[in-house]
Amino acid sequence: MRDQDFDLLTQLLKSTSGLSLGPDKRYLLETRLTPLALKNGFDGFDALADEIRFKRPQALIDDVVEAMTTNESFFFRDSTPFDILKNQVLPKMLASRGGKKKLKIWCGAASTGQEPYSIAMMMAEDPARWAGWDVQILATDISKDALKKGEEGSYSQFEVQRGLPVELMLKYFRQEGERWIISDDIKRRVTFKPYNLLDTSVAIGKFDIVFLRNVLIYFDTPTKSAVFEKVRNVMEKDGALFLGAAETVLGVTEEFRSIKGLRGLYMPTEYAQEASLSFAAAG
Ligand SMILES: C[S@@+](CC[C@H](N)C(=O)[O-])C[C@H]1O[C@@H](n2cnc3c(N)ncnc32)[C@H](O)[C@@H]1O
Repeated sequence: MRDQDFDLLTQLLKSTSGLSLGPDKRYLLETRLTPLALKNGFDGFDALADEIRFKRPQALIDDVVEAMTTNESFFFRDSTPFDILKNQVLPKMLASRGGKKKLKIWCGAASTGQEPYSIAMMMAEDPARWAGWDVQILATDISKDALKKGEEGSYSQFEVQRGLPVELMLKYFRQEGERWIISDDIKRRVTFKPYNLLDTSVAIGKFDIVFLRNVLIYFDTPTKSAVFEKVRNVMEKDGALFLGAAETVLGVTEEFRSIKGLRGLYMPTEYAQEASLSFAAAG
């Protein structure tokens, strides 16, 4: 790969999607973009890079971003955040929002839907608690291909076996040939929409709970801080933020603090101390 192509494409990816690729990721760029180049009729990676350099075609740039996203996800990934959501955060929200009975949840890097559907299944498992509530789950991602798959709610045997307890699989999925299709009841609880976390121009609402897991790991520190600031602006002051196991706010932002003893849970700084105490008191 020519150095100028590496520079061009890494700068393009960083400015459009936040993806930060170091020199050790040259192979990744080449292995993911060469098939895209051939599919689009170019005779290789260099020709694709030249097209972008000289013509900047938006559709091709979108395809490059799409090809470079990592959409790996699975149901109830890492389990602990889902336990914390169920046993700590949701009981608090039930109490604090019991008047309006309205709850808004945002999965900001929802990929192929396993994360929002895990939350939807968790809530469907507790119908008495949520009777009369308006619970909205918004699932967004930059990858239109991933969102399309999430919206279809169709998974392979391998995908439904990853993280999903068998009783939930049998209860909320039906088998069609090789595929497992999520039930309409769970599907209608989640709304999928394309959304770039770097975009500051679109208002997406105000949320009580935000899942932003396993996406910040791909960004550099200034991009992470900008995303945290934006997420803070769309969260209620006592909202709950879940990050991935390899992600943290330490050294990146002052907007959020971790909640002691509850791994993966963060809250707006001005509320975090009070929240830590009340979670500790609730045991
Ligand atoms: C590894 S998946 C994480 C999926 C899920 N949150 C989980 O933890 O299982 C990362 C997702 O982040 C998305 N992504 C990357 N950059 C993004 C951006 N700038 N805006 C929105 N989504 C982005 C990718 O398309 C991908 O689907």
